[in-house]
Amino acid sequence: MVVSPGIMANGDSNSLLSLVSFLLFILITATAVTGDSDREVLLSFKSYLQSWNPTERGKYNEWETTEKQGVCQWPGIICTPEGSRIIGINLRDSTISGPLFGNFSALTQLAFLDLSSNTIGGSIPDDLNRCHNLKHLNLSLNIIERELSFSGLSNLEVLDLSVNRIEGDVHSSFPLLCNSLIVANLSTNNFSGRIDDIFNECRYLKYVDLRYNGFSGEIWSDFRRLVKFSVSRNRLSGNISASMFRGNCTLQVLDLSGNGFAGEFPGQVSNCQNLNVLDLWGNNFTGNIPAEIGSISSLRGLYFGKNEFSRDIPETLLNLSNLVFLDLSRNNFGGELQEIFGRFTQVEYLVLYGNSYVGGLYSSNILTLPNLSRLDLSYNNFSGRLPSEISQNLTFLILAYNNFSGDIPREYGNMPRLQALDLSFNRLTGSIPSSFGKLTSLLWLMLANNSLSGEIPREIGNCTSLLWFNVANNQLSGGFHPELTKMGSNPLPTFEVNRRTMDNTISRSGECLVMRRWIPAEFPPFKFVCATFTNKSCRTLWNHVLKGKCIFPVCPAGSIVDPLDISGYLQLSGNKLSGEVPANISQMKKLSMLHLGFNEFEGKLPIEIGLLPLAFLNLTRNKFSGQIPQEIGNLSSLQNLDLSYNNFSGNFPTSLNELSEMSKFNISYNPFISGVIPSSGQLATFGKDSFLGNPLLQLPSFFIQSGNNNSSSGERDNGREEDDDGAAIDMLVFYWSTFSFYVVALMGILVLMYLDCPWCRAWLRLLDAFMASLKSMLS
Ligand SMILES: *[C@@H]1O[C@H](CO)[C@@H](O)[C@H](O)[C@H]1NC(C)=O
Ligand SMILES: *[C@@H]1O[C@H](CO)[C@@H](O)[C@H](O)[C@H]1NC(C)=O
Ligand SMILES: *[C@@H]1O[C@H](CO)[C@@H](O)[C@H](O)[C@H]1NC(C)=O
Ligand SMILES: *[C@@H]1O[C@H](CO)[C@@H](O)[C@H](O)[C@H]1NC(C)=O
Ligand SMILES: *[C@@H]1O[C@H](CO)[C@@H](O)[C@H](O)[C@H]1NC(C)=O
Ligand SMILES: *[C@@H]1O[C@H](CO)[C@@H](O)[C@H](O)[C@H]1NC(C)=O
Ligand SMILES: *[C@@H]1O[C@H](CO)[C@@H](O)[C@H](O)[C@H]1NC(C)=O
Ligand SMILES: *[C@@H]1O[C@H](CO)[C@@H](O)[C@H](O)[C@H]1NC(C)=O
Ligand SMILES: *[C@@H]1O[C@H](CO)[C@@H](O)[C@H](O)[C@H]1NC(C)=O
Ligand SMILES: *[C@@H]1O[C@H](CO)[C@@H](O)[C@H](O)[C@H]1NC(C)=O
Ligand SMILES: *[C@@H]1O[C@H](CO)[C@@H](O)[C@H](O)[C@H]1NC(C)=O
Ligand SMILES: *[C@@H]1O[C@H](CO)[C@@H](O)[C@H](O)[C@H]1NC(C)=O
Repeated sequence: MVVSPGIMANGDSNSLLSLVSFLLFILITATAVTGDSDREVLLSFKSYLQSWNPTERGKYNEWETTEKQGVCQWPGIICTPEGSRIIGINLRDSTISGPLFGNFSALTQLAFLDLSSNTIGGSIPDDLNRCHNLKHLNLSLNIIERELSFSGLSNLEVLDLSVNRIEGDVHSSFPLLCNSLIVANLSTNNFSGRIDDIFNECRYLKYVDLRYNGFSGEIWSDFRRLVKFSVSRNRLSGNISASMFRGNCTLQVLDLSGNGFAGEFPGQVSNCQNLNVLDLWGNNFTGNIPAEIGSISSLRGLYFGKNEFSRDIPETLLNLSNLVFLDLSRNNFGGELQEIFGRFTQVEYLVLYGNSYVGGLYSSNILTLPNLSRLDLSYNNFSGRLPSEISQNLTFLILAYNNFSGDIPREYGNMPRLQALDLSFNRLTGSIPSSFGKLTSLLWLMLANNSLSGEIPREIGNCTSLLWFNVANNQLSGGFHPELTKMGSNPLPTFEVNRRTMDNTISRSGECLVMRRWIPAEFPPFKFVCATFTNKSCRTLWNHVLKGKCIFPVCPAGSIVDPLDISGYLQLSGNKLSGEVPANISQMKKLSMLHLGFNEFEGKLPIEIGLLPLAFLNLTRNKFSGQIPQEIGNLSSLQNLDLSYNNFSGNFPTSLNELSEMSKFNISYNPFISGVIPSSGQLATFGKDSFLGNPLLQLPSFFIQSGNNNSSSGERDNGREEDDDGAAIDMLVFYWSTFSFYVVALMGILVLMYLDCPWCRAWLRLLDAFMASLKSMLS
């Protein structure tokens, strides 16, 4: 017998379970019936697939390529042990599109069907419902739509329909589907309706995933006998009552996040002594966090963020020796940080952002928790100085959006594992400690919007992982040291540590707010990624970025898109930095965004800038002079270019006309630039606001005649032709004449209706038809 690799590869317990029961099933039901009709069905399935997939084809294309090969040797086909009947089809990830095949029921022994990770669309045909022997059905990751009706699949053990577009109520399938069901994954569809009774008769059910749907009403109350139950991101409401936990509880994962549950959460949850993850994030729970939770020693993750729990944290939680992740963000705690947080010595991730805390951190010990890896205290009102005692084991320290003041302690340079330090949007003063040069794991240094002064220490160049550097809007002065260009030269060791050690399942919550700051969504190339920020996508993004997998389509100068290249940035805007930009900036091979605007940089812009993979270059409001390097024309990924308010002079480099990706462009107020802007090509797509205050620059004639006015940001102007004055007047006349026609016609209709005579009605119909055609002409 041939077992397809797809079943074996998935090593988790439930696929093992299904495999075992599946093999049992084979032994019991293997009866020798002629296999010829099975072969016929497969061949008709093959030609069906071929007709829907004329170009790219999966492994089914190899079926019956050699005469001798038996059906059981065909890739993706599973037979009974003696090879007489087909009992399984695995065409996972086989580039199949089109609707689902409508004759699977002719394979009367079919028990296993995996068509996941394809592009199968349409509705599920009735035929599938007649595959009465089906035990394992995986249609996940397709684009199947419309409603579900699986009343006939009473032997099904594993059902995975996740990530499709199926909608409507599931009551026509449940409880009929329940007899043998162990796994039900309906997540990420558009299901709706109630779930309070659907699984009542599913005696063997263990894994239920209903995440990301539109289910509403109350929760199904018997979930404690499952192993995993997730209803995250639905519209469920009501209370979670104590009785739901009465009796034996086998739960390991309970995820109720992102619903509208209210009231107190019952302490009886402590009946679930195997619980690993309790996720209550994003509900309306009130009252105390139950002290009984402290007795569930297996707990690894507690997610209580975005609720209205009271601020007394029970001491018993300190007993949870396996607790890794504690999220109590956005509970409106207020007041000073609870003293107890300084005693969670076991916790690695502590997420307390958005709680309106006040006061300082001095007495809390929170920064010295020995096992602490990620601490997020952003979006509170903490004030005072930053304590200098700090755990050397921190990897993420996020204190942004508070009122911290005073100097940044130089001890913060003693965190060899630190990957992100975010102190932005505070009131910090003094200079950036040169000890930061020791932070060789640092990927992000976020100090924007403080009142830091002094030079950017050249030691920062020793931060070899530092790809993302943002010190915008401070009072920094001094020059751009050539040593600084070494920063971020080799982030790979840090990414490799993350690839080895980062646990995807546990490091979640709070990523979105952080990612929005760290990946500046308003700028290219990051704009592309961030257009679709959801909690789910932030988590994926977080995992990708921290492992150095690139998600940005940015190409190095002159080459084609290389999606594996990571994009870095340097944001120095809004300071008092001066001097020249060093020529060795060309070393910064991953720099996609360079913002030097609103500073006092001067001298020539080095031609080496043309060697960077820039998507964004903003030099506005500086004192740059000399020629604009024509090498900027080599920056084939460039989308935003702002050279406005400088002292550039000489001939305008027409090489800029080659920048076909450019969507924002501004060279206004460089009064000594001369030359000619070509009247066709990329530059001609911008309005005259991109070229203001350049008296020596010759613009295309249509700019001047038509008053090619544009949005002040100099964005691409697509509707130029329509802006012509003469045309506008013509339009006005046209509108007025149609309007008066309508008025006259309407009056005519009223008169005719009033008269109500046979010939009048004929007229009316004629007029009606005329009006309709006029309307369609206008729209
Ligand atoms: C299904 O397959 C069987 C066996 O090949 C065939 O006899 C029957 O006509 C098919 N039915 C449909 C609806 O194609
Ligand atoms: C279904 O297929 C998907 C993708 O191929 C896989 O990730 C998932 O584990 C499968 N489901 C089950 C229950 O085996
Ligand atoms: C659906 O849930 C089941 C059970 O938890 C799991 O085995 C399977 O991998 C999930 N499917 C996908 C596509 O993640
Ligand atoms: C989901 O279903 C609702 C109606 O129940 C519909 O309004 C909505 O557009 C659907 N969403 C998607 C993504 O199909
Ligand atoms: C609870 O579990 C115990 C031991 O596993 C078992 O003896 C008992 O019958 C179970 N109780 C219920 C109500 O299932
Ligand atoms: C929580 O309750 C408040 C009123 O107490 C209500 O305004 C809010 O919409 C509720 N939130 C959710 C997610 O149900
Ligand atoms: C149930 O929820 C409501 C809010 O919907 C709340 O007022 C009530 O106190 C809750 N009852 C219990 C027992 O928690
Ligand atoms: C912690 O657990 C120990 C025994 O495991 C128990 O004696 C102690 O009372 C518990 N502490 C709290 C605060 O629950
Ligand atoms: C800190 O973590 C390590 C390993 O992750 C663990 O062995 C140790 O017990 C933890 N420390 C405390 C105080 O819980
Ligand atoms: C860092 O963690 C290790 C164990 O992982 C621990 O032994 C050490 O005390 C911690 N260091 C600090 C400064 O907390
Ligand atoms: C760090 O940078 C400074 C100045 O750029 C340099 O003198 C020093 O040798 C560097 N230290 C290390 C360890 O590379
Ligand atoms: C350049 O930066 C300034 C200040 O941040 C901003 O106002 C301007 O829009 C930027 N220019 C472009 C083309 O993005």
